[in-house]
Amino acid sequence: MTGSTCHSSLYLPFGCEVVAVTDLTPGEKLFRLRKADGAPLGHLPGQFVQVSLLGWGEAPISVASSPTRDGVFELGVRRAGSLTGAMHLLKAGDTLGIRGPFGRPFDLRRLRGQDLLLVSGGCGLAPLRSLIQYCEDRPSEFGAISILYGAKSPAHTLFKEDLAAWEASARFACSLTVDSFTGEECYDGNIGLITALIPPLAFDPDNTIAVVVGPPPMYRGVIAELKKKGLPSGRIVLSLERQMRCGVGKCGHCSIEHLYCCQDGPVFWLNEIENLRGAL
Ligand SMILES: Cc1cc2nc3c(=O)[nH]c(=O)nc-3n(C[C@H](O)[C@H](O)[C@H](O)COP(=O)(O)OP(=O)(O)OC[C@H]3O[C@@H](n4cnc5c(N)ncnc54)[C@H](O)[C@@H]3O)c2cc1C
Ligand code: FES
Repeated sequence: MTGSTCHSSLYLPFGCEVVAVTDLTPGEKLFRLRKADGAPLGHLPGQFVQVSLLGWGEAPISVASSPTRDGVFELGVRRAGSLTGAMHLLKAGDTLGIRGPFGRPFDLRRLRGQDLLLVSGGCGLAPLRSLIQYCEDRPSEFGAISILYGAKSPAHTLFKEDLAAWEASARFACSLTVDSFTGEECYDGNIGLITALIPPLAFDPDNTIAVVVGPPPMYRGVIAELKKKGLPSGRIVLSLERQMRCGVGKCGHCSIEHLYCCQDGPVFWLNEIENLRGAL
């Protein structure tokens, strides 16, 4: 948790204004938010906030923008249930409640100076976008950066404008894929699982860290491919999702054996969790 989270804000939501809402896909929207007091959120890439709307409950959502960007922050939200369904009806000028930022962020100290392999699927691109923007804004701090992203279909691809900009940028090597393509959209990219993008990659396993964020079924296949390339568990970072309530290590809803996903994670090194039952 960052030092900016004072004790009362662990439990008490503060107000945020919706600055803008844009469609990412038919089922996902990007919310640009500003704290009512105008202060920065004070997060680091990989952290999440607890979003609330009176009468609709609360849910953990990853911060999708970098703290190096201006005084607003962004959340990419899939319409999944009650809170996210109500969020999708919000317009610019509306307000919502936020607690946080919470959770263990990506370990920037260990990532600095390394080549990075950033692998995500579906909504997993949201927390990685925060890290990618951070790397974009501090280019001298990191080595070569490869971005691999997989979506269900072209229509399900998130952050299309960002992906196009990263593909066009000399700073990043991007490989994108979709699981399937029915022909209703203009698409001439890769078709197949994200695991197929890893074997052709050339990287130095002694100087590379892989950061993997995606739906649970993606992890096993991606980890197996990374290990075949010689990457040890201590060089693979994951971000896990669990049902959460308090978000601050008090209620036990998010436990993975002795760990709390909300406080010990959601970011973990693979060697911290690979032997824990139910972690992956
Ligand atoms: C660390 C973290 C970061 C996350 N980041 C993001 C993010 O960036 N973007 C994002 O879109 N999501 C993110 N999520 C996921 C998000 O928190 C969940 O989708 C959350 O449940 C949405 O809340 P809700 O109230 O809208 O949905 P809920 O009402 O909780 O419903 C969510 C799903 O559970 C099902 N469900 C609800 N109640 C029941 C029940 N009683 N029995 C069976 N099924 C039920 C619903 O049908 C639905 O499929 C994150 C989760 C975590 C833990
Ligand atoms: S959500 Fe309560 S302990 Fe993690």
